[in-house]
Amino acid sequence: MGDAFIIDGCHYAGEIERKLKDFLNSHKIETLRLDVILVGDHKPSEIYVRRKSEACHRVGIQVETHKLPETIQEQQLLEHIERLNKASETNGILVQLPLPAHISKQKVQMAIEPLKDVDGFHVENIGKHVSEMKDGLFPCTPQGCLYLINQIYPDISGMDALVIGRSLVVGMPMSHTLLQADATVTTAHIKTKNLSDLCKRADIIVSAAGHPNLVRGKDVKEGVVVIDVGINRVEAPDNMKAKITGDVNFEEVSQKAKAISPVPGGVGPMTIAFLLVNCLKAYCLQHGDVDFDDFKF
Ligand code: GUN
Repeated sequence: MGDAFIIDGCHYAGEIERKLKDFLNSHKIETLRLDVILVGDHKPSEIYVRRKSEACHRVGIQVETHKLPETIQEQQLLEHIERLNKASETNGILVQLPLPAHISKQKVQMAIEPLKDVDGFHVENIGKHVSEMKDGLFPCTPQGCLYLINQIYPDISGMDALVIGRSLVVGMPMSHTLLQADATVTTAHIKTKNLSDLCKRADIIVSAAGHPNLVRGKDVKEGVVVIDVGINRVEAPDNMKAKITGDVNFEEVSQKAKAISPVPGGVGPMTIAFLLVNCLKAYCLQHGDVDFDDFKF
């Protein structure tokens, strides 16, 4: 093949943002509000949170970032979340990960009111996702990945999909999302022995393992569709800036793939676009008068 379609996440995220902005305007939703909690000085998190905040501004979602010190005690953070749970003007709450080691991620995720849990990490929302109940909030990145896959294949029923990674943020909900779209799903992870064989069989590969060069050209079949969720910082030689790469060897795999998402500019913008969509869904779940199903994206 050699001329894979490059799946431009910035383009599709822009389309979703436009539709969302129009929907908010036409339904006169002016008070939709997201509160983001950022703990500590983790530089990549600061960048992600800034991008989320900028995206909210573009579509007309009010957003406030609560920057809390690295040394904050777990109890204080939980109390902060509880105040936002109770605040009627707050529709969505997002606590940026990772958290400092002395704070339990699980306790924090469980402290967020499920109807405001725009990350979809609360067990109530995980349970609703797995049991295909429509009135939950579901993780943003898997929704973004399926949206990109659907640009190539609107129907993936019966196709062989391989998900590499089993995290609660991406891998696990990704596998459920693809299963619900009737794909035949294999989940691989760090202990998987025959990754190369599994890759060779797959019609669709979603890699969210966090290892550069994990998926090589020799491992994939002609015409595969590849979604790269990896964000890996690779140190460059002296005097050059460190580079961000995905899990997939783009040069090699794009020679054989039908379509491939780049890093950066692939899944990243889609995660943010679906965070905005989740904010709207949270608003609709909280206000019975707007039907989320009326939003077409
Ligand atoms: N850190 C990296 N990805 C994510 C995400 O999707 N949500 C949150 N809250 N933190 C993250």
